[in-house]
Amino acid sequence: MVNITIDGQQFQAAEGQNVLQAALDNGIEIPHLCYHENLSSYGGCRLCLVEITRGQRTTLTTSCTYPCLEGIVVRTDTPEVLKARRLVMELLLPLAPEAPQIQALAREMGISEQRFTEEEADNCIRCGLCTRACTEMVGAQAITFSGRGYRRAVESPFGEEAVDCIGCGTCVYICPTGCIEMLDRGTQRTLPKWKRTLELKKCTKCGWPYIPFAQIEFARQRGQEPPAADWFDLCPNCR
Ligand code: SF4
Ligand code: SF4
Ligand code: FES
Repeated sequence: MVNITIDGQQFQAAEGQNVLQAALDNGIEIPHLCYHENLSSYGGCRLCLVEITRGQRTTLTTSCTYPCLEGIVVRTDTPEVLKARRLVMELLLPLAPEAPQIQALAREMGISEQRFTEEEADNCIRCGLCTRACTEMVGAQAITFSGRGYRRAVESPFGEEAVDCIGCGTCVYICPTGCIEMLDRGTQRTLPKWKRTLELKKCTKCGWPYIPFAQIEFARQRGQEPPAADWFDLCPNCR
């Protein structure tokens, strides 16, 4: 454990734990969009900026990528920090003009109007939560970042059907802008962004097509045995 100071309060944190998580664990809120406690830090949105002093040196840096080290002093609310974060948010806003969570966060940060515009906005803020969740939580590695600079985007490999996508929906649930659609129609599930359509297995009791066959097969191949042999025959409601 190491001793750190956040906004004048002293805390103990595990050495190497990121500063953002240490702050959140101690009830200190720092806005963040590309961080999830169960995924590796990416440092992509830059919204979690804080001021950190270590020895004689003070830097403005992303708290989700900065490790807790003995004696560091963190300030989350200096005028410089708040100004820098507001600018970051103003640059993110036009990327996701239809995302309620982003709009709400902007309002919380005191941004009432949109200064910048983005002609090709697709509601994706390039936070990379979907790709990391698919790789690190699910283990499917079905989607990826492509391109550089302003052309950087998340997509299926080579823009073709994401053949490794098992239709689990993890990317859909974790996306902060809601820009990944998942449509269940009849016995088919489609994720248009990944150009992927999968066949769904029906619950043998109520008939609800509730889980992709590919997801069941994926779990089987990885040795993730269900609690009972007929587990996937019944949907969660009928189990
Ligand atoms: S739905 Fe497909 S792309 Fe999304 S996390 Fe699951 S496997 Fe990955
Ligand atoms: S699709 Fe959603 S989760 Fe993926 S990078 Fe874009 S905003 Fe983030
Ligand atoms: S949450 Fe830290 S850079 Fe996005």
